Amino acid sequence: MNAPISSINYADLVHQDRVHGTLYTDPAVYEDEIERIFHQGWVYVGHDSEVAELSSWCVKPLGRQTVILTRDKNNAIHVLYDRCPHRGNKICQEPKGVAHTLTCPYHAWSFSMDGKLVGMPAERGAGPGYQREASGLTHVARVAAYGGFVFASMAAQGVSLEQHLGYATRTIDQLVRMSPRGRIRLTAGWIKHRFRGNWKNVLENQVDGYHAPYVHGSLLSANRDWANERDRKDTSPTTARDLGLGHSDIDYTQSYHAKGGNLRWTGMIPESRAPQYVAAMRAAYPPEVAEESLIVGPPHAMIFPNLFIAEMNIMVLQPVSAGETIHWTTPVMLEDGGEINERSLRRCEGALGPAGFLIADDAEISDLNQIGVGNREPEWVMLRRGLETEKHQADNIIVGGLMDETSQRAFWRHYGQLMGEKK
Ligand code: FES
Ligand SMILES: [Fe+2]
Repeated sequence: MNAPISSINYADLVHQDRVHGTLYTDPAVYEDEIERIFHQGWVYVGHDSEVAELSSWCVKPLGRQTVILTRDKNNAIHVLYDRCPHRGNKICQEPKGVAHTLTCPYHAWSFSMDGKLVGMPAERGAGPGYQREASGLTHVARVAAYGGFVFASMAAQGVSLEQHLGYATRTIDQLVRMSPRGRIRLTAGWIKHRFRGNWKNVLENQVDGYHAPYVHGSLLSANRDWANERDRKDTSPTTARDLGLGHSDIDYTQSYHAKGGNLRWTGMIPESRAPQYVAAMRAAYPPEVAEESLIVGPPHAMIFPNLFIAEMNIMVLQPVSAGETIHWTTPVMLEDGGEINERSLRRCEGALGPAGFLIADDAEISDLNQIGVGNREPEWVMLRRGLETEKHQADNIIVGGLMDETSQRAFWRHYGQLMGEKK
């Protein structure tokens, strides 16, 4: 059942060149977003490698819901609400596991990984109208996967996952192609940070190609190679692209080709330091495909509304309230990734771990951004960098410069459409 939607007129608040500050702070806006975007649309839930074994499961957020991602004994994936059909108890007390059944801690009803009720103490007392088949866990209405990424929609009707993803499928393709087997794993464990900021300000920061020299100045000064590599000038050949449907990416293709050399995206390790990986890529793919992956590396892409492929890290946004977001991060492990996986683990720890160089900077900015937009004046947040100069391609992709706000506009354009729809 859909929750009522507020009477807020989003067309008044979302403009091409600016958005209203209350969109980040108003609890009624947050409620509308949860309903319209997270509970009616497609949302990233988890990766199939997180339930790699038969009869494995893990707990994930889906908007404000808690769901269980499972793989049953016949190898099928399910997304189930973490709510016992008996008296409504939450079933899972651990974040993940492998087991024949999930057992409710309250009265010990047990369920197989496809959600069926398989055991109940004192079943005879359940009463004459009781049917075991109708008393399983509830499946989220629609579940679909692309490249191992499992998405779910709580709405029974609507666009297909492929229609929702549009050109974003290319960014997932680019990521999985980094593995000689065309498969990634998200099994290194998750780092969770609680940001005191609205989920949209966290998302906008992730696609912001403008802030790095200022917010991440300490990292740049500590790592001259990185600073030089990310040539952050208005003239950089790197582009920010609006891929449509709220998705966007920052495309480093031209910059990496201009600079030449493989594996710069790993943080400048020379090819000679990853011989196993380079050989495996060359054996797995046609030469032009292998070389392109080795030169350009993984994508930097935001998939609406909550999945961010941050090159060799995956980040997921969990909106908790108008002013609070949990930010999940894990490094991407490549199947047959050779030396690269170790490198990715160390880079994730260095940049995104509790003592990391990058995420603490962004978290602080998120806090300050949230406090700032809570002040009444000026009412609007600007969104106009590059608006007049970005290029509209024939395939409807909009291409702006690295330091333009093309990616943020990509998000807001789709947001405005979804939130403005009359239901
Ligand atoms: S609430 Fe789950 S078995 Fe009773
Ligand atoms: Fe940042």
